[in-house]
Amino acid sequence: MIKTIEDLKDLKGKRVLVRVDFNVPLAGHEIRDDNRIVQALPTIKYLLDKGARVILFSHLGKIKHKETADVIEAQKAKNNMRPIAKRLATLLNQDVEFVDATRGEKLSEAVANLKDGNVLLMQNTRYEKGEEKNDPELSSIWASLADVYVMDAFGSAHRAHASTYGVPEILKKEGKEVAMGYLVEKEVKNLNRCVFVKDEDRPYIAILGGLKVSDKIKVIESLLNKCDKILIGGAMAYTFLKALGKEVGTSPCELDQLDYARNCYEKAHGRIVLPLDSVVTNEFENWTEKLVTPDNNIPDGFEGMDIGPKTIVKFADEIAHAKMIFWNGPMGVFEQTDFQHGTRAICDAVAKLKNCFSVCGGGDSAAAIKQFGYSDKFSHVSTGGGASLEMIENNGKLPGITILEG
Ligand code: 3PG
Repeated sequence: MIKTIEDLKDLKGKRVLVRVDFNVPLAGHEIRDDNRIVQALPTIKYLLDKGARVILFSHLGKIKHKETADVIEAQKAKNNMRPIAKRLATLLNQDVEFVDATRGEKLSEAVANLKDGNVLLMQNTRYEKGEEKNDPELSSIWASLADVYVMDAFGSAHRAHASTYGVPEILKKEGKEVAMGYLVEKEVKNLNRCVFVKDEDRPYIAILGGLKVSDKIKVIESLLNKCDKILIGGAMAYTFLKALGKEVGTSPCELDQLDYARNCYEKAHGRIVLPLDSVVTNEFENWTEKLVTPDNNIPDGFEGMDIGPKTIVKFADEIAHAKMIFWNGPMGVFEQTDFQHGTRAICDAVAKLKNCFSVCGGGDSAAAIKQFGYSDKFSHVSTGGGASLEMIENNGKLPGITILEG
């Protein structure tokens, strides 16, 4: 059993350490999309309303601790949490104290000085090289700041790091309460429906896209055991098409995955649906020639950029029968307007559905849904790309969530 924040009693005056996922896309120090911050607000507000002293911590970007000191400093400067604290203060309409430290006196004093209903955000957890290694010393430093731990970082729940795993592990041993926040609760409920499939949710159709088959092998296998059909678009479709003897021109292809793709396709007995045609160009950027292939062969010197019109009709037709959809990965290079049609068409087809439970598993497809204005047409758009895929792969288990079990 995992506690929810509403199971936590007597929060007034308690130091509640909340792992959030504020790993938001940045342009310089500007936040490009604050959705992950917005999605964490219900938990933060609930705790503040109850008079808790809220300590927030999150990673932001990547910091490669094996690099030289100069490179590490540059990565730290790029991934400083200060702008996030500012945005959070605006969204909460309340002061958020930013503590430019991840341990030491400055941090412990700031925590000690918190009043009931105050909130602070500490510096990026990845400034610490022990974070990704789940270092026990670091975990115990962070655990010492808390009376209660709340996990609301769904996007990071597939990482067994100090902040997501080591800290709750220690606090549990000390007999302290650990719980999931509202965001994690919502994500788990919705994604579990795509993992533990009920008859009334069939036909269950998965739509997969994105670049690499190798990144999605485990998820394809898991989905083949759960779904009625898998529609495959995006660049990963070309590895499948080549494996089936089609010409793919200069499209990205993983030659070491051809046997896997062929076996997988055969084992699926018609349940994997591949593109019937493609929109192709002579170059990826700065292309001068663009054409639609008449079938699923791509001429020499051309590469696939989007699914073609026949594929759009075929995929839309499959989607029209669905009672449940799980979608991860765009159908084409949607960042370029010429190759948005496939990804938009998936959004359109889902938007037309009535009585269908539709989930977008985060990442690029969630960004596309938002960009095209379809966010409210899906039953659930996950805040975690990697986490939602691992949730499907591992039959509902993620380390940052199972560690909360009591
Ligand atoms: C994400 O953006 O997928 C999560 O915040 C996890 O980030 P990570 O892949 O850098 O661990």
